[in-house]
Amino acid sequence: MDPGMKSPNGSAAELPTYRVETWGCQMNVLDGQRMAGQLEARGMRRAGDGEEARILLLNTCMVREKAESKVYSALGVIARRKQEDPELVVGVTGCVAQVSGEEMLERAPWVDFVAGTGHVEEIGDLVDRARRERRQALALELPEEDPVYQFREIARDSAFQAYVTVIEGCDQFCTFCVVPFTRGRERCRATDEILSELAHLAATGYTEVTLLGQTVNAYRDPETGSGLGELLRRAARVPGLRRVRFLTSHPRLVDDDLTAAIADGGPIAPYFHLPAQSGADRVLGRMKRRYTAAEYLRTIEGIRRAVPDIAISSDFIVGFPGETEGEFQATLDLVREVRFSNVFGFRYSRRAGTAAARWASDAEIPDEVARERLARLLDLQTALQRETNEGLVGREFEVLVEAEEKGKSRGRTPCNRIVHVEDGPGRVGPGEYVRVRIERGLPNSLIGKLAE
Ligand code: SAM
Ligand code: SF4
Ligand code: F3S
Repeated sequence: MDPGMKSPNGSAAELPTYRVETWGCQMNVLDGQRMAGQLEARGMRRAGDGEEARILLLNTCMVREKAESKVYSALGVIARRKQEDPELVVGVTGCVAQVSGEEMLERAPWVDFVAGTGHVEEIGDLVDRARRERRQALALELPEEDPVYQFREIARDSAFQAYVTVIEGCDQFCTFCVVPFTRGRERCRATDEILSELAHLAATGYTEVTLLGQTVNAYRDPETGSGLGELLRRAARVPGLRRVRFLTSHPRLVDDDLTAAIADGGPIAPYFHLPAQSGADRVLGRMKRRYTAAEYLRTIEGIRRAVPDIAISSDFIVGFPGETEGEFQATLDLVREVRFSNVFGFRYSRRAGTAAARWASDAEIPDEVARERLARLLDLQTALQRETNEGLVGREFEVLVEAEEKGKSRGRTPCNRIVHVEDGPGRVGPGEYVRVRIERGLPNSLIGKLAE
């Protein structure tokens, strides 16, 4: 029996416990579930809330400073635990591991292993080795070959919603972004592999899938070269799948075939996350986004012409080096014009290694200015969302129920809006699809009742 176990629950308590702490994007979440699956296949058990795990994996993110600093503060806390309990296994994975792995092993010599983003499939073996022998391990090379992963082993959090990676890496090199360094060059999974995973998911009860990539619409089948539009069409034909989503698209890579596939409807959800980042051409140029605000708007127009009811969401960075008040106003103008269903706003965070981090620091926007701009952006978006959501009162949507929360059932529409169903509890449960009539629109959600 492993030392230090406290759980009294009979045989399950004999199993070594693990915890994966994930701090990043959807792809990082999926990577964490892939790691957990390998540990469970080796007979380990997820630690319960408040229970101390015997194997700890820190699955890190470094897209902004706040995410990166989490790992160092967590490591500080774990250092003390490890002193008292040298048998504890600690591994660091994810994007900070990829970029700062060597330095991390030096700074925290009691970390058992550091594995970069290309080594998710080896985590089970790395944990086994760390439990056998006390020697630090480092796995950081970024792979060049197309990714293949053991999709039958993944320990997913949901029994009906699943993430599926279709493309890894990013070739865009936006000047603010660290992802091309943490995830390497674009590599696509073979369409047949993806379809096998989707069929496996459908056969095991999953009905909603989200196809993932940092630039998911750069997807090309490695053999045939066919793109995301075709992949979505084929995914939509997998029996049993009722919703197919995809994240995140780059505006300059939206093509007619992708738009046409979404317009086909059926399981392909009418929701498009299309980060604009800014509404000012000079800022977009300095970000190296390679589109202008007018081009972005034309892309949106094309999508809406094909799918009039589609919900479009976006990410924006405020306080990018050199951003003037007038340029920030252009972002607000774009937000007013498009009427996004949702906006994720971020204060610019300087990331070592990126092009923007090398620019003169006098172009940096003071923190309080960036904070104030972010608040204005989010206030505007909240007001617009309230209007849009109030306009949905009286409409009926199919809602996939996800959970029960504060006496209501919570779920999502095909267009990814959150709905609280007042008379859901006791009548519908997680994983069910129900028709809901909307009675109220709030800024961040809709309230409705089951339709007869
Ligand atoms: N690949 C996607 C794209 O092209 O938009 C998303 C990448 S990133 C994981 C998600 C969002 O984080 C970005 O859209 C951007 O708004 C934000 N982000 C990335 N780097 C940032 C930085 N240095 N500072 C603030 N926000 C950043
Ligand atoms: Fe980062 Fe730009 Fe790639 Fe998105 S497209 S992951 S923002 S470099
Ligand atoms: Fe973070 Fe890496 Fe995702 S930096 S946002 S976990 S790709």
